[in-house]
Amino acid sequence: MAPTVLAIESSCDETAAAVVAGSTVRSSVVRSQIEIHGRFGGVVPELASRHHLGAVVPVVDEALERAGVSLSELDAIAVTEGPGLVGALLVGVQMARGLATARGLPLVGVHHMEGHLWSAFLGDSTRPARPFVPHLALLVSGGHTELVDVAGLGRYRMLGATRDDAAGEAYDKVAKLLGLGYPGGPVIDRLAAEGDPEAIAFPRAMADRDTLDFSFSGLKTAVRVHVDRHGPPDSRAALADLCASFQAAVVDVLVLKARRALRRHGRDRLHIVGGVAANAGLRRAAQQAAAAHGFQFEAVPLRYCGDNAAMIGAAAAARIEAGIATPPELHTSLALDDPRMQRP
Ligand code: KG4
Ligand code: ZN
Repeated sequence: MAPTVLAIESSCDETAAAVVAGSTVRSSVVRSQIEIHGRFGGVVPELASRHHLGAVVPVVDEALERAGVSLSELDAIAVTEGPGLVGALLVGVQMARGLATARGLPLVGVHHMEGHLWSAFLGDSTRPARPFVPHLALLVSGGHTELVDVAGLGRYRMLGATRDDAAGEAYDKVAKLLGLGYPGGPVIDRLAAEGDPEAIAFPRAMADRDTLDFSFSGLKTAVRVHVDRHGPPDSRAALADLCASFQAAVVDVLVLKARRALRRHGRDRLHIVGGVAANAGLRRAAQQAAAAHGFQFEAVPLRYCGDNAAMIGAAAAARIEAGIATPPELHTSLALDDPRMQRP
């Protein structure tokens, strides 16, 4: 039977805990710190650690209670070991370590981005869990933009990555520039739905180059230059056009490179995971490309796109079942294709 795991995630600005049985979610609790960091226009590491400390015990209690599972029914405790903010990660790791020691349970460290990969397989009362299938993953979050060939658990090949800003970071920086607050993704996404994506011709960075790498810092600069030249948008319609045009430039490049990677590496299935995978424009474009070019694409449910602990639990359960689970080793920037991540 699939192991029952209590998972904790605290790598950035979400304190999360979940109980899973394999990839089936029994409970998933996410307490966001957005309101705390919003005032500062981005995540303040000191504040993040402090608020994780205050939230981690009640969030874990709530996850156990909602799942109707007691500590004695667990097979393991899992925790995000990195990448992330070191002070924030430490809170989750110490909590997990304490529980595991007190209960004599195995403690499993999970790479945050491997968690995002496993978010695509999560099931709950609304949909069955998915079995693992080899695929191409487009990982798009606040800190990462990567194309990864996923042949199996711990069988990752990095095909391309951003050379500067991550896609989510571009959303956050452009939103800041436009005075739209933090995080930028959801608000730009909503405004983009009302605007004309062809209103402003923003650059598609490295689209015509052979590479599978990305670059988003030029696009951010192009938005700034546009605003400097024409002044800040003076109506909601103008703001919506600007957001729609920016979003189109991001989405076009993401989908184009994903298609190129699928073709080049002989995969017929695309997963888009990470916070930016919630983007409506990106989901629509991926669906259209899948229909037009004959590959499979199924969007991850919105509740599992952003940071959550269910995905950490599912990745831990997969590692336990494969016999390759290891205790957490704190790291702030380990790549998914690092030898430590690979299956022996
Ligand atoms: O995966 P995630 O929750 O945290 C990290 O691991 O970074 O991703 C957060 C990022 C933020 O940059 C946020 O602006 C972006 O995901 N994001 C979105 C949307 N929702 C969140 N970006 C575009 N469209 C969205 N709807
Ligand atoms: Zn994340």
